[in-house]
Amino acid sequence: MQATAEAHPNIALVKYWGKRDGPDNVPATPSLSITLSHLRTRTRVSDDTALMNHVVTLNGAIVADAKIDACINRLIARAHRPIPALRIDTDNNFPTAAGLASSASGFAALVAAMDAALELRMNETQRAIEARRASASAARSLYGGFVTLQGGIDPATWIARPELDAAAWPLAVVIAICSDQPKKVSSSSGMQQSKTSPYYTRWTETAAADFTAARVAIAQRDFARLADIAEANCLAMHAVMLSARPGLLYWTGATVECIHRVRQMRTEGCAVFFTIDAGPQVKAVCEPGAVDRVRAALTNVPGVQEVIVVGLGGAARVLPA
Ligand code: PMV
Repeated sequence: MQATAEAHPNIALVKYWGKRDGPDNVPATPSLSITLSHLRTRTRVSDDTALMNHVVTLNGAIVADAKIDACINRLIARAHRPIPALRIDTDNNFPTAAGLASSASGFAALVAAMDAALELRMNETQRAIEARRASASAARSLYGGFVTLQGGIDPATWIARPELDAAAWPLAVVIAICSDQPKKVSSSSGMQQSKTSPYYTRWTETAAADFTAARVAIAQRDFARLADIAEANCLAMHAVMLSARPGLLYWTGATVECIHRVRQMRTEGCAVFFTIDAGPQVKAVCEPGAVDRVRAALTNVPGVQEVIVVGLGGAARVLPA
């Protein structure tokens, strides 16, 4: 029993921020993301008769995490047969927990590797539901390019779907690392806290409208339109965080300066926009021809520690044995 899978992180252009009441991470807002190339989580699942219990490692160190254990146990339950103790070895080729969506690529790779190793033969909907139950954004990392996560009243309808292939609109992403510290407030806690914002309900309504408009902009490859929607959506999410009680502020000074630089470049005709998740890093999405300029501009921002350039990546996949 052995399988290895890889998945890429994704960043949302229309954000999932807020959960419905109840179990299983059902989002309160539909979301739309791009899957990133180059950055990846690789997860190997194998049985190990020497072990008493399952062991999970991340970059060589043993991890104990209730969310990971719960995901593993749900997947094992799908096997409907006794499963021996498993070794689950994971490595990320990028900083973990620094706002680069390592949980998204991590859970997508885990679901894909467990599916293959335990021969669960899950269909796409089942894989998306298992990934979403672990971390909703992980469902989007099952696919490459532009990906949606949406659903209706029934929680079981909340699944990810591919929207457009990476090759159909090959954008680039310049990531400015503004802090390498793990974030102090997890996404789940931040979402819960955000419900105290007086703007929370309005946020869920505008997010739904942004989602519809962004899909049209993507279908038309309308960069300027997508830029406006994505920046407005990102700032609206952060406005909800800021107006929570107590307020949540994930940014550093460098984050703010990167926002100014990106906006300045766009005013000067450069095809670039920013988005920021529940952390300080700034992701500048741009047309390939703008990469050199955007990279140079963000590298020069005081406090930016590193700049990483990636493109759009493919779906999660099981590696050949
Ligand atoms: O799936 P989680 O719990 O890691 O939450 C993701 C939240 C954001 O990254 C801020 C937005 C998103 O849609 O990815």
